[in-house]
Amino acid sequence: MDRPQRRSGLLNVGGAAALAATAVLTIAAAPGEPPPLHAMRWLAPGVDVARILTHTPVECLTRSRNTEDTYRVEIGRAAFRTPLLLGGQAARAGIACATCHRNGRTNPDFDFPGVSGAPGTADVTSSLFSAHRGDDIDDPRPIPDLGGPKDRLKISQAEGSPALKIFIRGLVIEEFDGPPIAPAVLDDLVAYVRALNPKACGPTATTPMRASGAAEDVRRAVRAAQAALTRGDAPTAAVMVESARSQLGDIAERYAGADVAATRSQLGQAGLDLAAALESMRRPGPTNARERLAIFLARSDGWMSAITRDEARSLYDPGVLTARLAMDSVTPRH
Ligand code: HEC
Repeated sequence: MDRPQRRSGLLNVGGAAALAATAVLTIAAAPGEPPPLHAMRWLAPGVDVARILTHTPVECLTRSRNTEDTYRVEIGRAAFRTPLLLGGQAARAGIACATCHRNGRTNPDFDFPGVSGAPGTADVTSSLFSAHRGDDIDDPRPIPDLGGPKDRLKISQAEGSPALKIFIRGLVIEEFDGPPIAPAVLDDLVAYVRALNPKACGPTATTPMRASGAAEDVRRAVRAAQAALTRGDAPTAAVMVESARSQLGDIAERYAGADVAATRSQLGQAGLDLAAALESMRRPGPTNARERLAIFLARSDGWMSAITRDEARSLYDPGVLTARLAMDSVTPRH
């Protein structure tokens, strides 16, 4: 084992979470304790956590008038935000395409021990992620902005070229040890990446993360699941519900305090509705998944207004997040 020091140290410790906790020592003084937001696990030490985790790069998504294209892009968009798609270690750490390509863009603050070199880089052939392709060579590359000019990207997105599909398939299956991907989901990831275009970026580089925006993303994934079910594509619908669940989990994480406990439990209930839909979808024979998804959407108005009402007391609020981080760094938690 003559691996570089950084990586070999990593592989001997149990679990990505424990490893990543060392990376945030400067901001959380209780090693071994999970950080309040799991996205802190892959932030470079010393960065402005409260700013980064309350802002996101603007998505550069072109809208299509064509219903079929819109359907495909919506599926791809939610798949892009699903850790489960990547499988293996990445999925366990909660890493999705969108972790590195935030909102389809880049992530200059991404720093995952054993995977990154300088902040904003990743070695996607890392053996930490893949048993297939891990090449034992530290080769971190800058995370490209998929919403940037297409001619600056390496993989051809030319109409009719199979290059992008081959690349993404390789990423999911070989580089991240993902489970076999439903063919439609792969096509739709390609459609999403193709639909990213600098012309659609808008005037600002970043935008504040809002509870309502996150909730709308959850609903979009659930609507995409409904559309997939209408087409008789249950495997794709299941990926959509998984996406909705993990995104809902990201929202719940922000409602951590005792003063927002009621809202947190509403979110927990919504998560159970999604779990029930998923279970029904996976059972052979007749399914009531459609009804369950409809119930989820009908109830979503309730928790959406609760999270919006409580937003100023949640970790979406930069001040609340800053205070929480300061508390963690002075109070050892046992
Ligand atoms: C751990 C961080 C990470 C994750 C997760 C990740 N990527 Fe990437 N992605 C990168 C890096 C780094 C590169 C540049 C690789 C290179 O230059 O060899 C890249 C390159 C790409 C490219 C090629 C860009 C070009 O220059 O043409 C596409 C497309 C892409 N990723 C899409 C995805 C999709 C889709 C997913 C999820 C299935 C994903 N990425 C997950 C870090 C990541």
